[in-house]
Amino acid sequence: MSGTFYIGSQISESNVFVAYYNKLKKLCLAFKDVELSTLISTKSSTDSFCGQVDYVFTDPPFGSNLNYSELSSLWEEWLRLKTKNEVEAIENKSQGKSLDDYRHLMTECFREKYKALKPGRWMTVEFSNTNASVWNSIQTALLEAGFIAANVSSLDKQQRSFKAVTTPTAVKQDLVISAYKPNGGFEQRFQNEAETEDGVWDFIRTHLEYLPVTKYQGALMQLIPERDSRILFDQMVAYYVRKGYPVPISSQDFQIGLGQRFIERDGMYFLPEQAAEYDRKKLTSGHFIQTKLFVSDEASAIQWLRQLLKVKPQTFQDINPQFMQELGGWSKNEEQLDLRELLNQNFLSYNGIGDVPSQIHGYLSTNWPEMRNLQKNDPGLVAKAKDRWYVPDPNKAGDLEKLREKSLLKEFEEYRQSTKKLKVFRMEAVQAGFKKAWQERDYSTIIKVADLIPNKVLEEDPKLLMWYDQAVTRVGGE
Ligand SMILES: C[S@@+](CC[C@H](N)C(=O)[O-])C[C@H]1O[C@@H](n2cnc3c(N)ncnc32)[C@H](O)[C@@H]1O
Repeated sequence: MSGTFYIGSQISESNVFVAYYNKLKKLCLAFKDVELSTLISTKSSTDSFCGQVDYVFTDPPFGSNLNYSELSSLWEEWLRLKTKNEVEAIENKSQGKSLDDYRHLMTECFREKYKALKPGRWMTVEFSNTNASVWNSIQTALLEAGFIAANVSSLDKQQRSFKAVTTPTAVKQDLVISAYKPNGGFEQRFQNEAETEDGVWDFIRTHLEYLPVTKYQGALMQLIPERDSRILFDQMVAYYVRKGYPVPISSQDFQIGLGQRFIERDGMYFLPEQAAEYDRKKLTSGHFIQTKLFVSDEASAIQWLRQLLKVKPQTFQDINPQFMQELGGWSKNEEQLDLRELLNQNFLSYNGIGDVPSQIHGYLSTNWPEMRNLQKNDPGLVAKAKDRWYVPDPNKAGDLEKLREKSLLKEFEEYRQSTKKLKVFRMEAVQAGFKKAWQERDYSTIIKVADLIPNKVLEEDPKLLMWYDQAVTRVGGE
């Protein structure tokens, strides 16, 4: 934090009776509708919980944020009850606990909560950390315990935490993860469907039901990233991997199938009745907030280009300067790709032969009055459309993705052959290689390549960590 100016915290003595009186008022308000048939127990969340519950709320430690047991030693001496800190879920050098230990302990805690929760019910996890690797540990732990995360939003607790008040860079708002335990009906059906595509669509149908239909910031509607086709695909893959099944569908076929089975609105997928509700609400709210995408690696660069070209198909010369401005935050381990290569591998350009593709035609006729009501092969339209890059429709995107996968796998093969640690590489290539190795039950390749990439990168990428963890478990198990 050197070079950061901030106002140090100011201490004022407050009247303890006033403070407690105010707290009491709040507590009375909070508990006035609660029926008091409660069970209170003090024990580690890694221990089993007897009984079944309807809902779980949990506020776990955030990595190495605070050393709770050490900080509590004073009053614990008075209370004569000490924290059993072997199972304290934190990252702590003096206790010899690494980030890995933190993740394993959190997984154990979540597993117990999973067992106690009734099928189809929710758990809320409060979380606040600026550190990507701790954030990913929580996501991975949730997944390994069997939960499916449906939504992440911010929570304004109004009362700031100790860290948020005393450190200038601390996150001021907590995040809330809403995760559910799949319902029994689905889990049972899945046993028979897992090897077929039916399992995929059953998973997606069930998952869509749990996702919020609308999200607002003030009066404006927000996009819901969890309904994006790529994120849905990742969720489905994660579920299959955790259950130990190969994924029975390629990402290309997934994109096509999704469009055939569900309803698309503004790049998000809905069940029919949800789409109707979404349409109704959009009519009254109207405007959208576009969340700004940060380009930091190949995947986010593709996503950024997709957003750009979907709104306006344009030429390389137009795209290039805008793209260059976005490259400030490129991750240092990620190989920087040429814009031409990114475009060639993921998008299509109209070369002036044949009909103008509808994506470009739509854009031109909406924005240029003289381009309206023209045939798709009109010379004026063709000239204006030539050399513009556009987002392919899913059927053509499939062919492109196959080509791209081939080149990614070629690159992965080079990593696999490497004898030295990899410093700069394509994360997308590692992911494609891990996925293929997983399908072929070639767990040793996953472990070998994972050992070649920097630990920090592995810890910060939930997808890689998932393949790696599962591969280690399977090798150990066999
Ligand atoms: C973020 S704090 C929760 C603060 C609490 N919600 C409050 O408002 O006072 C996390 C708590 O989890 C506790 N903890 C750590 N490991 C645990 C475990 N294995 N089982 C149960 N609690 C644990 C810590 O001691 C700490 O008190």
